[in-house]
Amino acid sequence: MNTPAPSAFPDAAKTWNSRFSTEDFIFGTDPNAWLSKQAHVWLPGQRVLCVADGEGRNSVWLAQQGMKVDAYDIAEVGVAKARQLAAAQGVQVNYTVADCDQFDYGEARYDGVAAIFVQFADPAMRARMFHHIQRCLKPGGTLILQGYTPKQLEYKTGGPPFASHLYTEALLREAFAGFEVLALREYEAELTEGSQHKGKSALIGLVARKR
Ligand SMILES: C[S@@+](CC[C@H](N)C(=O)[O-])C[C@H]1O[C@@H](n2cnc3c(N)ncnc32)[C@H](O)[C@@H]1O
Repeated sequence: MNTPAPSAFPDAAKTWNSRFSTEDFIFGTDPNAWLSKQAHVWLPGQRVLCVADGEGRNSVWLAQQGMKVDAYDIAEVGVAKARQLAAAQGVQVNYTVADCDQFDYGEARYDGVAAIFVQFADPAMRARMFHHIQRCLKPGGTLILQGYTPKQLEYKTGGPPFASHLYTEALLREAFAGFEVLALREYEAELTEGSQHKGKSALIGLVARKR
């Protein structure tokens, strides 16, 4: 019998299903700006995984750019909305409802991984997730990651209220020490991503290639 995977938040599926149980797309339907700016690293036809993709704004946009996209999320309500968004846009995305500890990532399977605001993960879960991301990328494959820095705790315009979940340049450099860092930037910007990421935000973006 499978034992439930440890989770950074107690009953994450219940929490997120309840957040997603509204007609609105709570992070909007446009792709994350760091992702859309950096996605030129991937070519049409390449295989990309969207980690904890929520309501599908990023996976659907990547499929519209011609990528072959797999995506997973723990919240079945979010994944159902993502499926609707993909159908409305006339694109195919291979969606799975899964916990980040239980998704079948495979090894050297993907040309790209998009990890956009996946800071539900505490340090132990984050280490496991980053390990999966590193393993599932092909050599030469590229990760695009966006998160908040600890300064975001002052802005309170999105993200978890836990310093241990947030990223610094040093943390990401160490976590992806074996990768070639193509871009790594801490910056501030005004976000308008639905109702949940709204206002002045302390952000960090990483683009890193597996050697
Ligand atoms: C801040 S949202 C970001 C969603 C999406 N990446 C985006 O940028 O629109 C975080 C997502 O993580 C998902 N999530 C939370 N805990 C998870 C877990 N243990 N495994 C997989 N997904 C999880 C939530 O359901 C939610 O969709």
